Amino acid sequence: MPGKMIAMTGKGGSGKTTLASMLIRQLVRTKRTPVLAIDADPNATLGLTLGVDVPSTIGDLRDRMGEAALDVTEIPKERLMDQWLSDILTEEVGFDLLTMGHPEGPKCYCYVNNLLRRYLQMLRGNYPYVVVDCEAGMEHLSRLTIDDVDTLLIVAEPTGVGMATAARISKIVDTLPLKVNNRILAINKSATDELPDTSNIAADSVIRIPFDSDLAQRSARGEPVDDIAGCEMRETITELLDLCLRAPQNANS
Ligand SMILES: Nc1ncnc2c1ncn2[C@@H]1O[C@H](COP(=O)(O)OP(=O)(O)OP(=O)(O)O)[C@@H](O)[C@H]1O
Ligand SMILES: [Mg+2]
Repeated sequence: MPGKMIAMTGKGGSGKTTLASMLIRQLVRTKRTPVLAIDADPNATLGLTLGVDVPSTIGDLRDRMGEAALDVTEIPKERLMDQWLSDILTEEVGFDLLTMGHPEGPKCYCYVNNLLRRYLQMLRGNYPYVVVDCEAGMEHLSRLTIDDVDTLLIVAEPTGVGMATAARISKIVDTLPLKVNNRILAINKSATDELPDTSNIAADSVIRIPFDSDLAQRSARGEPVDDIAGCEMRETITELLDLCLRAPQNANS
């Protein structure tokens, strides 16, 4: 049985990585472990927000593996891949972090990608919960070779541009060969109780996440932001995780 997968998407800077790290901590706090955290953004920052060192990435491994594939005297590639991948998986208390790193370069990595696809499927089976932080836009989910997610969290700031981007992303999702069971729109950094008009954004549920000035300050200092200091934020993240894990309610779809 593959793990329950929560994937983040949304406009650049909307808060995907911040919310991913908080959800990961909340899963660990509520003993829903082990969690597999996947940083699928080439400009990887999930390790930073979680306060975890990332020694190497799948991108580095692709290069090493590509070179090894040319060497016929090497030991079986599957075994090499297993060894190297386990080096890349950063083990923390309650969760493991896998950092994808830079996407494919000019060389062809089809062979390596096939191994990787198999490995990700296998890995997913070892964890009851998987959280994927993605780069802005939707392309990476297909590139990641994931074809079904339980919950897609669309993060958007409460502005006209934020809403327009969320609407576009939600439409793109419908055109991808991607199965999404539960689609949540998270209006992040909201400074008022008033929610923008979300009626043209297809989502099963909508949640408002307040602007947290303490979090903004910690982020400005380059400190981890996964530990929720403010009570309001803690309540909201609890609510957000509940939404992510429950069956869809069809708010605006
Ligand atoms: N609820 C919030 N209150 C205050 N600041 C927030 C909130 N959510 C996110 N931020 C801040 O917004 C900035 C962008 O957040 P984050 O890096 O998580 O966005 P992102 O969507 O992952 O960006 P990118 O697309 O560049 O990966 C950070 O400085 C973060 O601390
Ligand atoms: Mg990010």
